[in-house]
Amino acid sequence: MSHKSPKDFFRPLAVGAPAPLREIPARPSRAIHFFDPSNEKMAAKIPAMVGTVDVLLGNLEDAVKADNKEAAREGLVRIAQATDFGPTQLWTRINALDSPWVLDDLTTLVPAIGDKLDVIMVPKVQGAEDIHYVDRLLAQLEAKAGLTRPILIHAILETARGVANVEEICGASPRMQGLSLGPADLAADRKMKTTRVGGGHPGYLVRQDPPRDAEGAAQIDAQRSIFQQDLWHYTIAKMVDACATHGIYPYYGPFGDIADVVACEDQFRNAFLLGCVGTWSLHPKQIAIANRVFSPSVEDIAHARRVVAAMGDGTGAVMIDGKMEDDASLKQCLVLVDLAEELAAIDPELKKQYDAIETPEGA
Ligand code: GLV
Ligand code: MG
Repeated sequence: MSHKSPKDFFRPLAVGAPAPLREIPARPSRAIHFFDPSNEKMAAKIPAMVGTVDVLLGNLEDAVKADNKEAAREGLVRIAQATDFGPTQLWTRINALDSPWVLDDLTTLVPAIGDKLDVIMVPKVQGAEDIHYVDRLLAQLEAKAGLTRPILIHAILETARGVANVEEICGASPRMQGLSLGPADLAADRKMKTTRVGGGHPGYLVRQDPPRDAEGAAQIDAQRSIFQQDLWHYTIAKMVDACATHGIYPYYGPFGDIADVVACEDQFRNAFLLGCVGTWSLHPKQIAIANRVFSPSVEDIAHARRVVAAMGDGTGAVMIDGKMEDDASLKQCLVLVDLAEELAAIDPELKKQYDAIETPEGA
């Protein structure tokens, strides 16, 4: 197989298309709020949501009925043309590459609203070939439309083959912005035996060993603690590593039990701790959860700034509250401090909270 020369990745794939980016901007995207542009009630609320959420995403794929596919596409064009999105990003999720709708999605959206679309989410990505297809098509459409900024691609990790190919997907194009976990489609594709959209399952657990009686016999019917395990740990961790390797961003995906805000917050926090930068929101109340979870806490930032101040030039080791801190823990703290700065720049309420933290001596 002949490989493309590294330098050629940064040439546009069509004459006149914008030059590919060399780095994906770290724009805050704690919540990607999904709306159905064919649902007029939902669509009418979108302009008022600008500034209240990091990303608004016009969904054209699953959850939009086949009869409404065209109305959704046209609705998205109308909303995008009529709305000034200010600091809020506009994304869309196009239909799957094997569907009869996706070609019209791309050939309609790019000329009509390509200057407003930041990211196109591509579902059910299987391998690099899917990204190459969209990459070239976007370049042709951008060139034709005279766009000056490349539209980025975000892939949903929701097929077994996609998970197996996750690294080549991340590295398939300089347009790759990030990946989301798609737990519902992935469960179906893998033939997992769940019937939920994301989250845990009471059957996926580990159980404490049985206590023993005086003769040493196991009391298997005795009360024993059980702990639910995280069905998504493996895939999220694999996704985070692939994204970090390629300088792009990992996200959790949908959490379908809208009423269970507690378990939703837990799922989001697991993803945040493992390295994800954001998640999807399927209901306005999930926006608040995502914004809270994917913003470092005031306590973490206070601690991180203390470590940064104490570590001086960043080498050596210091003791803080009985714990050893060194170059590596400093680097972890800097991840949080940098993220806090990016978020404070777009979230005045958060900025106030971070600004109110007492500055440690020497900082
Ligand atoms: C999202 O699209 C999912 O399938 O979970
Ligand atoms: Mg899906």
